[in-house]
Amino acid sequence: MRLNSPQINIITRACNKASRSLIRDFGEIENLQVSSKGPGDFVTSADKRTEKFIINELQKAYPEYGIITEESGILNKDNTKNRWIIDPIDGTMNFLNGIPHFAISIGYEEDNEIKCGVIFDPIKNEMFCAEKGNGAYLNNSRIRVSNKKKLINALIVTGGPKHSSKIKEEIFSEFIEVSKKVHAPIRKFGSAALDVAYVACGRFDGYWQKEINYWDIAAGIIILKEAGGFIDFFEQDNKASLKRNILASNSNIHDELGGLIIKKNIE
Ligand code: 2AM
Ligand code: CA
Repeated sequence: MRLNSPQINIITRACNKASRSLIRDFGEIENLQVSSKGPGDFVTSADKRTEKFIINELQKAYPEYGIITEESGILNKDNTKNRWIIDPIDGTMNFLNGIPHFAISIGYEEDNEIKCGVIFDPIKNEMFCAEKGNGAYLNNSRIRVSNKKKLINALIVTGGPKHSSKIKEEIFSEFIEVSKKVHAPIRKFGSAALDVAYVACGRFDGYWQKEINYWDIAAGIIILKEAGGFIDFFEQDNKASLKRNILASNSNIHDELGGLIIKKNIE
């Protein structure tokens, strides 16, 4: 692999180390599923423990960097120049249900631009990583988005809506419109980070999702771009919000897929 910034080295090391206890925790889920309490509390604490571990690792190297995380919120608020964006377990519902499809996602942002990032699926031992200007990789192999030319032949993935979403009808109507334009049924895998990573390596041709959180897709932004993909955040009125509407795909189908997405303002 030809990625060599100090930040990417720190992120990959943190992911590798954090994954060991995450794999162990995942192994426990099966036992807890049959217990009367279920694995809910256990997963919440696994999530928090993993995040704490990652924060600790990153802070050892750069104590002054800002941090945006799913569980702990924003740390070192005043540093908006250098920030880590962390999701300790993306695909928590999969994890909770014993489905081996989740990932650690860490991005590094400098002056509001993601410079490098890693999405690590510890169960499949697949590490997607990229650094600005140096390409995107899956483990040691260079990756590229697919070359699928027509939306009708594309394999598309999406996520949501959340229970709390106020735009469920909008999300479902997009689902119907996209469904009409593709042969293969739309996929829903339950991990936004891996959805973007899979577009980056050509397994999927396109992904869109409304109201996704920044930490879910921060690392995916650079991985997709470095793999030659196109990414759009549309109607981001409130720049301070951590919610995003995202469209990520290969360059050929980007406009056609984008034309089916309802462009309204995000709250
Ligand atoms: P999580 O597993 O870290 O919670 C599933 O469609 C994707 O949406 C997952 O990446 C999941 O991240 C994310 N997600 C879960 N709850 C969400 C919420 N309330 N708002 C936005 N995204 C959410
Ligand atoms: Ca997440």
